[in-house]
Amino acid sequence: MKNPGPPSFLLSMIFISVLVETVVADPRSHAVELRCKTTLEHNTTIFVPHYIATMDILGNKTGTSGFGVANVGSGPDGCYGLAQCYGDLSSLDCTICFSQARILNPKCYPHNGGIAYLDGCFLRYENYSFFQEFTGPGDKAVCGNTSRKGYGFQKSARKALLDAAAAAPDQGGYSKSVMRVPGSRNESVYVLANCWRTLNINSCRACLDKALASMMGCLPWSEGRALYTGCFMRYSDTNFLNKEQSGGRSKGFKVAKVVAILSSVAALIIGVAIGVHIWRHRRIQKKRRGAIDVVKMAKMLHDSSLNFKYSTLEKATRSFNDTNKLGQGGFGTVYKGVLPDGREIAVKRLFSNNRYRAADFYNEVNMISTLEHKNLVRLLGCSCSGPESLLVYEFLPNKSLDRFLFDPSRGKALNWEIRFKIIKGTAEGLVYLHENTNVRVIHRDIKASNILLDSKLRAKIADFGLARSFQEDKSHISTAIAGTLGYMAPEYLARGQLTEKADVYSFGVLLLEIVTGMQNRKNETSEYSNSLVTTAWKHFQMGTAEKLFDSNLMLHSYNHNDDINEILRIVHVGFLCMQEVPSLRPSMSEALQMLLKKDEQLPAPTNPPFMDVRTMELSDTCRYQYPLPSTSLSIATVSHSSFNPR
Ligand SMILES: *[C@@H]1O[C@H](CO)[C@@H](O)[C@H](O)[C@H]1NC(C)=O
Ligand SMILES: *[C@@H]1O[C@H](CO)[C@@H](O)[C@H](O)[C@H]1NC(C)=O
Ligand SMILES: *[C@@H]1O[C@H](CO)[C@@H](O)[C@H](O)[C@H]1NC(C)=O
Ligand SMILES: *[C@@H]1O[C@H](CO)[C@@H](O)[C@H](O)[C@H]1NC(C)=O
Ligand SMILES: *[C@@H]1O[C@H](CO)[C@@H](O)[C@H](O)[C@H]1NC(C)=O
Ligand SMILES: *[C@@H]1O[C@H](CO)[C@@H](O)[C@H](O)[C@H]1NC(C)=O
Ligand SMILES: *[C@@H]1O[C@H](CO)[C@@H](O)[C@H](O)[C@H]1NC(C)=O
Ligand SMILES: *[C@@H]1O[C@H](CO)[C@@H](O)[C@H](O)[C@H]1NC(C)=O
Repeated sequence: MKNPGPPSFLLSMIFISVLVETVVADPRSHAVELRCKTTLEHNTTIFVPHYIATMDILGNKTGTSGFGVANVGSGPDGCYGLAQCYGDLSSLDCTICFSQARILNPKCYPHNGGIAYLDGCFLRYENYSFFQEFTGPGDKAVCGNTSRKGYGFQKSARKALLDAAAAAPDQGGYSKSVMRVPGSRNESVYVLANCWRTLNINSCRACLDKALASMMGCLPWSEGRALYTGCFMRYSDTNFLNKEQSGGRSKGFKVAKVVAILSSVAALIIGVAIGVHIWRHRRIQKKRRGAIDVVKMAKMLHDSSLNFKYSTLEKATRSFNDTNKLGQGGFGTVYKGVLPDGREIAVKRLFSNNRYRAADFYNEVNMISTLEHKNLVRLLGCSCSGPESLLVYEFLPNKSLDRFLFDPSRGKALNWEIRFKIIKGTAEGLVYLHENTNVRVIHRDIKASNILLDSKLRAKIADFGLARSFQEDKSHISTAIAGTLGYMAPEYLARGQLTEKADVYSFGVLLLEIVTGMQNRKNETSEYSNSLVTTAWKHFQMGTAEKLFDSNLMLHSYNHNDDINEILRIVHVGFLCMQEVPSLRPSMSEALQMLLKKDEQLPAPTNPPFMDVRTMELSDTCRYQYPLPSTSLSIATVSHSSFNPR
């Protein structure tokens, strides 16, 4: 037996600790108000690239320092931008909040100015330098009127507001204040005050003074926000403030930890997959190309059938109206749209808009649109030249598998026969992606929400191929992470080893979910050791897997036993796909054969990864000897003490 030593141990701990932590950040990305200028941009060809470049710079700056200003171009279509997160947001939360603001702001297009107030951050763009402005015509308070507060609360609120407004100018523009309401059971007032960092102390104070006065006007209501040109203020009876990061167990810390882990994973992915050298080289090349491409791209796109005009898609989705929203994916929000000719489409509005690599993006769209298979969602095209990156897909009326699977009443629509077809279709789609001779695609994100259902409830795999485009964009991670962790193959998560076998692993998890109607994610009340995979593995070994079958499967009574055997076989194949060692997992086409040739003997699966600390050490199927100090060590303590990135 070989002992791979500490790296392997560490990597397994990375895997475990990522799974143990929940992502509970509060980036406060809720939008309070968007104010658009009424003047139109001057010349789209000039304005749009300026706008996008400005947003890119702001995104870069807020990610590192929570604040940024930028200016690209001059004259009537020049773009000046300012973005700032409030002082209590961690840098990840800031990235998330800014991403939201950045999605919100293009709603002002084609107007040449916009101001977005979110609960966690602020974003403004204009065609002139506005950085010193601290009052303006739109300044106002927005009062929340959920409940009326008593005298004690009002008194404390006044005091807390005064304190915060007085303190902020001398503290870099940010302060918060929490005040207990005397005589109350357990009530406090929470206040935040924040000026933009471009203002000097006097301007900041002037802005906050006005904001303060308008906040007072919101009393006796329980909540108020002041949306001013140079500052933001808020009070509330509920604690909306993020905890200080030094607490060690705070939300921010947990998230920072997950992100630190993911960043290191991302670093590993890049390092292992392509090598730092090649990577750098390519990045530089991409950037060099970027500048020239914008103009060329516009020409190329103009003639392409893959190109959709931004305005067409905007109209089709009724300006991305919330009522058209179909869902939220890792890379963007999806809206339903209807084209002028009546065709229904799904439009994905991407979080990122990396214009400097627009040509690469277009090429990928071009390539992926050539992939055609009955079990793949068709990519119809994109809008790469508008103010945002949009992808256009065929529309599927029954949405995604998770909507049915994990809902006890909708689940009834999927009896065993339909579920088996979904399994088979998904497998066939994956075989096509993996074994297509022209373009081989590893999906990377197979999960129930990425399996869509057509009008006859046939499976269609969504979101393939483009994952590569987003490797360098960290902002999507936090949104992608929550739904996806349970599906990630350990070697991919921990070491960035990406092969088709990572999809095979996720497919295995999916099989279990389809059979049980349960989702493989961390149960709030229990440890990772109670995840679906672990529970099912125990039942599988004891021969009691039947207990987990979804009651919605509605098995035929006349050939009940055949059905049961068929489902047990699926579970068996699922575990073969989820084996810890990638090389032991079948390829997708082998897995498909296993599903179809029901008489063939299946090999016994070795264990899925890291069931719990105990079996990890004792299991004889385990080829690694993990140098664990003690079997009584709980997973949670391991993740806190031995893997503690700062
Ligand atoms: C917009 O600017 C471009 C580039 O300078 C120019 O070719 C085009 O004619 C302008 N369009 C209008 C409507 O002014
Ligand atoms: C973002 O910031 C990094 C580090 O400062 C820099 O290397 C990179 O070029 C920036 N990217 C853009 C698009 O500005
Ligand atoms: C900003 O745009 C408006 C409307 O197009 C224009 O009147 C104004 O002169 C522009 N400002 C600058 C500084 O160019
Ligand atoms: C809250 O304010 C809105 C708008 O001013 C008003 O329509 C609504 O009736 C108010 N609700 C309560 C509970 O006062
Ligand atoms: C008071 O409220 C805080 C936070 O809402 C809570 O943690 C604490 O337990 C409460 N204390 C009492 C005595 O109810
Ligand atoms: C969204 O659509 C609804 C229903 O058609 C409409 O009432 C609402 O005003 C629209 N919202 C926006 C922001 O256009
Ligand atoms: C699936 O979509 C079709 C077409 O819109 C619809 O008729 C059918 O009722 C849907 N099925 C379910 C189970 O929702
Ligand atoms: C979490 O696990 C506990 C015990 O295993 C179980 O009682 C509870 O229903 C589970 N909760 C969810 C949301 O699955």
